[in-house]
Amino acid sequence: MKKLICANWKMSLSREESLHLTSTLGSESFPSKAQVILHPSFLFLTEIVEMLKGTKIAIGAQDCSAFDKGAYTGQIRAKNLAEIGCVTVILGHSERRSFETNIDIQEKAKQAQKAGLLPIICVGENDPKQRAKILTQQIQECCPKTGNFILAYEPLYAIGSGQSASLSEIHEAASLIKSLQPSSPVIYGGSVSPSNAGEILSLDSIDGVLVGGASLKAESFLKIIQSI
Ligand code: PGA
Repeated sequence: MKKLICANWKMSLSREESLHLTSTLGSESFPSKAQVILHPSFLFLTEIVEMLKGTKIAIGAQDCSAFDKGAYTGQIRAKNLAEIGCVTVILGHSERRSFETNIDIQEKAKQAQKAGLLPIICVGENDPKQRAKILTQQIQECCPKTGNFILAYEPLYAIGSGQSASLSEIHEAASLIKSLQPSSPVIYGGSVSPSNAGEILSLDSIDGVLVGGASLKAESFLKIIQSI
């Protein structure tokens, strides 16, 4: 299976920066084992999908609504994301969990699956001692009972901190997640950088990475992709 190299651009880039980064990445060739998926701002998805036509880079969104359609001002319908060419959607990122519940995340994942999107459901603990309990509960409550989805293991203390979880922690968590959801690919996120991506991606239990800060510059993101 290919290794998934997912970029989460969050709310970090201007339109000009997003399009410039897209154009640089679009002109590169990647190792055949890499499947690159960018998650830009909603506002630039259509332009970026157009720019990357004919390349192997796929595009996803950073969230979607838990509802199918209707009177939900400001929300983004999963089906519309699929219509404009998105293939994945990041759900349950810890930066959103202060205002959404596990049940909301499961409803969003079901809407995404119904629309033909592959949900990337984020799980992760803040206290390593609570790891097994938190991951088990999040997986039980956030994941749809059927259909395909990816699980992103993102321990909160590693996100944006410059200090990734250790290889043994990543392997332990990914193995636990795989024992609970054997058919779902597991990717790791939290301070992935050019210096640690190679060893993280070489773990048997890890099917890819979700990269925040280091995906905002072509140079560092390309090094991560090349480290496969
Ligand atoms: P980071 O973010 O790579 O900047 O730690 C990862 C994420 O939040 O998905």
